[in-house]
Amino acid sequence: AAAGDHQAETATISQGTVATNHSGYTGSGFVDYTNVTGSYVEFTVSADAASGTSLALRYANGTGADRPMDLSIGGKVVAAGVSFPPTANWTTWATKTITADLTAGANKIRATATTSAGGPNLDKLTVDAAADTQTPTR
Ligand code: GCU
Repeated sequence: AAAGDHQAETATISQGTVATNHSGYTGSGFVDYTNVTGSYVEFTVSADAASGTSLALRYANGTGADRPMDLSIGGKVVAAGVSFPPTANWTTWATKTITADLTAGANKIRATATTSAGGPNLDKLTVDAAADTQTPTR
């Protein structure tokens, strides 16, 4: 199994843009969610076998308010209203980790903004390497 980094800028993006205007991101940029409810980034993660795993989202939130998101896998919400609290400024990145069950094969892991502010700036998803068979993007 490969190390499990999945860059947001190469994921499927709905109502968001790839940006590079705040330093500290990994890969070639990050996703700036449009400031609307329902904006999302969706990663496709391949797993060898069904297993519980950690999903770590690296983000920045330079505002003073939470930017909560729902996390779903295969269209089913597995963590609702996950908090992405302020990180002091847009160049300070933090990681939010949840645990969830992946199924064997392709898993569509989606992070959807639940408020009209949109999501935080999103750098990458890191899936526990033991569960992840996909070639990482860096
Ligand atoms: C600022 C910031 C963006 C961020 C946006 C937001 O415009 O430069 O990177 O995405 O605020 O509020 O989401």
